[in-house]
Amino acid sequence: MAEKETPSVLAGKNILLGICGGIAAYKMPMLIRLLKKQGADVRVVVTGAATRFVTELTLSTLSQAPVFKEVFPRTAEAETDWTRHISLGEWADAYVIAPATANTIARLAAGICDDMLTTCFITLRPKKPKILFPAMDGGMYSSASVQKNLAWLSGNGCLVVEPESGDLASGQCGTGRMPEPDVIAATIEQAIEKEAGNSLLRGKSIVVTAGPTREKIDGVRFISNYSSGKMGFAIAGAAASRGASVTLISGPVHLETPRGVVTRRNVESAEEMQREAALAGTGCDIFIGAAAVADYRPEKTAEGKIRKTNGNMALTLVRTPDIIEEFARRKQPHQLAIGFSLEPTEELRNAEEKLRRKNLDLIACNTFDGTTTGFDVDTNRLTLINRRAETVRLPLLDKQEAAEHLLDAVEELMAGERGRQAVGGKILQSGTGQNQHEA
Ligand code: C5P
Repeated sequence: MAEKETPSVLAGKNILLGICGGIAAYKMPMLIRLLKKQGADVRVVVTGAATRFVTELTLSTLSQAPVFKEVFPRTAEAETDWTRHISLGEWADAYVIAPATANTIARLAAGICDDMLTTCFITLRPKKPKILFPAMDGGMYSSASVQKNLAWLSGNGCLVVEPESGDLASGQCGTGRMPEPDVIAATIEQAIEKEAGNSLLRGKSIVVTAGPTREKIDGVRFISNYSSGKMGFAIAGAAASRGASVTLISGPVHLETPRGVVTRRNVESAEEMQREAALAGTGCDIFIGAAAVADYRPEKTAEGKIRKTNGNMALTLVRTPDIIEEFARRKQPHQLAIGFSLEPTEELRNAEEKLRRKNLDLIACNTFDGTTTGFDVDTNRLTLINRRAETVRLPLLDKQEAAEHLLDAVEELMAGERGRQAVGGKILQSGTGQNQHEA
């Protein structure tokens, strides 16, 4: 089955909105509505002063999510969620601060993290757009301190959108008015499009295998596993939104084709998956094996239904083809093979051994606890290992976010970056945020 969809820029994107205490905050509920209408998922963080202008109730009702102000949770229920500032930064595809007031602009430029809004500014993943819409009185805007801080922010990766000229709340006329929500939404779209355009995956052909396989015992029974396909589908969607041409080969799952994925092939058994993978893999640039392919299949598949008897029954199982290994054995120098590993013991050692045995370029080692990680859950804890044995331990992440990190690592491989200098156990600055790089 092949399905085609037209990618839409904001649809499916995670937009983090930071609202500061300026009169232009009154425009933000309209912006939230606009973004939601275009299919974006919106989360809001506010400064204390922002809530003088617009209520948290309005913002959370429109965004359909809680609004955050402080880094430290206030309710008993939220007590456990002390890393919200990290997860919001990981989650966001873009961080938009509007209106950005003189005070918050100064805090951002100074790297101060004294509330959720300023802290998320630091936790946002490095390549994601940070867009500031300064809005204030004309005199404040042109002040030396505001201009100096904005110049620093714009020189350090922020998109600073010049305010408009016109009537201001002070009754004066000047430059300082925040653009209307439709202009802000269009700016966010452009920034996200530009970011996707900058991706090294743009125009690349990527094959992703996902889900379980079913190996038939007879006409009504099969051997399979609990894989939901969520990880592979998240990777396929994330790669498509970076501009890659994605072929998704999926075992039996209950998931919709992610937006932007050009081709989907549904298969059932390992052999069927192998056939499709061989076809799609030949000319591809990157092969990502996220499928939980059954290792064994019954030697013979019985017709109809095997009748039970009073005695025991023995089933002879034979090995299935190793799909990613076949690809990786024949791959050309420009092609990359990315695999997954799930091992009950000595996870990292076994994953690294698998990386070498299968000739992979990168392996994502799953930590399996069966509750927050593993099959049929929405989160995963991955450790990425490359051929130089450089290791990036990711925190527990939503599978979408884990997919983004995996693709960041793939882009790093493509860029031929020398990788991070391995310094035993020390936290180093990385291309993907809070990760720990180890020797
Ligand atoms: O050998 P193991 O099953 O642990 O390897 C896991 C990796 O190999 C995953 O990337 C999985 O998609 C891939 N694989 C495969 N074909 C198989 C078994 C695993 O492509 N028959």
